[in-house]
Amino acid sequence: MSRQIEGVKGMRDLLPGEIELWQHVEGLARELFGRFGYGEVRTPMAEDTGLFVRSVGEETDIVGKEMYTFDDKGGRSLSLRPEGTAPAARAYIEHAINNKEPITRWFYMGPMFRYERMKTGRYRQFYQIGAEAYGSKEAAQDAEMMDMVVQFLGALELKDVTLNLNSLGDEACRPAYHAKLVEYLQAHREELCEDCKRRMETNPLRVLDCKNPTCQAVAAAGPNVLEFLCEPCRAHFDDLQRKLTVLGIKYVVNPRMVRGLDYYTRTVFEFIASHPALGTASTVGGGGRYDKMMKGLGGPDVPAVGFAMGLDRLVLLLKESGRTFTSPPDLFVAVADEGSQDAALALASRLRREGLRVDFDTRGGSLKSQMKRADKSGARFTLVLGEAERTSGQAKLKPMAGGDAIPVALDDVAKTLRAARLATAQAGPT
Ligand code: HAM
Repeated sequence: MSRQIEGVKGMRDLLPGEIELWQHVEGLARELFGRFGYGEVRTPMAEDTGLFVRSVGEETDIVGKEMYTFDDKGGRSLSLRPEGTAPAARAYIEHAINNKEPITRWFYMGPMFRYERMKTGRYRQFYQIGAEAYGSKEAAQDAEMMDMVVQFLGALELKDVTLNLNSLGDEACRPAYHAKLVEYLQAHREELCEDCKRRMETNPLRVLDCKNPTCQAVAAAGPNVLEFLCEPCRAHFDDLQRKLTVLGIKYVVNPRMVRGLDYYTRTVFEFIASHPALGTASTVGGGGRYDKMMKGLGGPDVPAVGFAMGLDRLVLLLKESGRTFTSPPDLFVAVADEGSQDAALALASRLRREGLRVDFDTRGGSLKSQMKRADKSGARFTLVLGEAERTSGQAKLKPMAGGDAIPVALDDVAKTLRAARLATAQAGPT
């Protein structure tokens, strides 16, 4: 017997039954982000490895440990994208979008790849819905973006999600904070893991998001970045908080939050859910400002801010809510005798053309087995088509939930089913 080949660890199949939930979340995002003026971009799954090294940062876990990197047949080093911000920035630069418009709002959704230790809510192929706004350095842009996420979570009816906020300063004030942090870390060197002993020299901020509990304890007692902000960064952060208040958005300031990517300047934020279903993977989304990244990638000096939500995690939360998103068929067409098979196929075809969801067992079989299938399909009505119905042009719609059958002319089935749909919609959820 030949060996069964299984899917790759950490990469999942999403099947009908669950996919409707994903489509629901994606559909809401498309619609809502459109209202905020965001246009969709789709960038390739693989990029030049250097793109992520130079933006996300060599010392981050993402680039240092988690990327799927390989040489293509031409000897170029490519990486499967671990995130969407750097690819979108690369596209923005390549298409010289800054020459076309002063402010650009883009969103994307799709798979990202990180070779992470697997847990609930943490996968190696996972999905993000993200957005990036280019061209405005003002706090109003940050606030608008957070408002969009809050409205998105509201539309998903997800509660108990807290917005955490911090500012990491900029090139003017961060060096002083760095110096103080290094001094502090030096004093605690022996408590740090081997990775952090190295990070301390190369990129001390990364010590603050080390997953090792001892390093976390050291980091928690370290210097507070907010006490080092220069006047313009402080004003930006204050302005942002004022604007969030104006928008009625609740937040907590968390001076220990640095995020796991190197490109941030000033604002960083995370949306953290408190639901136990997510375990330690409670961050459903995060983002921040990255005013220097474009230039660092050889592009124009364009400020930017963005975020990405973890679609897998949003879906886990929605599943917990117990809501269903599948749409059952309006009708199951059953065949009473073999001679009616073609007429039934044609009827199903016509009704589908008219916009109805119709199920039909192409295998034929006994009426009893077809009715069993009808029951299983969750169809609202069943119509049995046999010689009598074909000759008279009259049939009956049998409500699967019980109740009297509705007589109907075969030509009026679509009209009657649409009216039934409308009546249910008006009656509201049962
Ligand atoms: P990130 O925090 O690395 O940020 O990822 C954003 C979200 O993606 C996380 O909050 C989490 O919900 C989800 N996520 C990350 N890794 C995994 C995983 N292995 N499995 C499941 N979900 C995961 C970024 O990627 C930035 N590009 C966000 C951004 C956009 N910053 C500015 N613009």
